[in-house]
Amino acid sequence: MLNKIYSSKYRISSQKIKDTRSIGMTWNVINSILKTNIKYKNKQDLQKLNDLHIKKIEKNLKLDKYQSVLKKIFRKDLDAISKKININALNYRISVQAKGKWNSDKVNKPRKVFYNKKGHMHEDKNNYNFNFPTRPHQDLNNNGFRSSSALISYITLTPSFEDSSLLEIGKFTNKAKLLKFSNKNNYENEIIDAEAKKTTWIVPKSLKPGSILFMDTFTIHRSSSSSLNVNTPRLALNIKIQPNNLDYIFKKFGFHKIKDLKTITKKLAIIVKKINSFNYELAIAYYLLKDFSKSKKTIKKIFAYNVDDITIKKFIAGGFLRKDLRSLNNSDYKKVFKSSLPVEKLSCADAILNSIS
Ligand SMILES: [Fe+2]
Repeated sequence: MLNKIYSSKYRISSQKIKDTRSIGMTWNVINSILKTNIKYKNKQDLQKLNDLHIKKIEKNLKLDKYQSVLKKIFRKDLDAISKKININALNYRISVQAKGKWNSDKVNKPRKVFYNKKGHMHEDKNNYNFNFPTRPHQDLNNNGFRSSSALISYITLTPSFEDSSLLEIGKFTNKAKLLKFSNKNNYENEIIDAEAKKTTWIVPKSLKPGSILFMDTFTIHRSSSSSLNVNTPRLALNIKIQPNNLDYIFKKFGFHKIKDLKTITKKLAIIVKKINSFNYELAIAYYLLKDFSKSKKTIKKIFAYNVDDITIKKFIAGGFLRKDLRSLNNSDYKKVFKSSLPVEKLSCADAILNSIS
């Protein structure tokens, strides 16, 4: 699964869901929450799903009660995934990825996002986020830079109808790197228009009930926003699993018993020749060794463009402090490349140190 992601131009892979009943069981759970009997494969029926329904699904599936129901339904798949990247299966949450219906006139206007007091992002004051397309981005920032290879499993619950806002994946023309992004619309890692326009986008074939789509923090993605109105909602589940050490990748390359940080940098230096994204971990590892110049040189390799100094400082600080771009402030990153940084629990730096046996 990981090999397929790393060798794919779209940075995705897919597999069939192990238990064919899982999707039907999930539909039943959702219908019981909504007290409806919607047939999610049927377009006309799916169009009955309104904003309040979607809001209710989002709210309820967050509850521990439904989290454990879903984990049970997809247990075989989740076990297999966690085995691949060595993580305790209890540590993740399942979230809903939904899109409702909308009018293209309203959505296709330039728009800045804003944040509420709790720090939650909103596309608009009067509408839910699921009534807007997801902006083009790559996820490395999204979980506080915990890992370049956090694995995102995307389980589609509804067919890919043409008048839905579907998950779209962007193609890399070269090595997998971060495309130029900007926060000019207040969305921290939105890929700039010029890059998004140049990119070839596809709706993956595996975006159908019964398949799981896998992606990682370098996968370029967004949801489609056509010039037509979006009339059919869509539903998916998303499970992000963060590795808490690098054992999975070292094993893949046949490296066992890593005894110190220096060995980690040597092994990662071999791995990055095949998988460019691990330059992020390598940069953090050099930093842990206080080799600031190598760290700086290395982190630049994950960017597809000539990145500015402040951005790379933030990316390093994020890897130690487990903070995303929005929460990092000047005092967090001003000392980067000058002195050592504290290692927060569950940060990328922590995962690297956890790999020493
Ligand atoms: Fe994302």
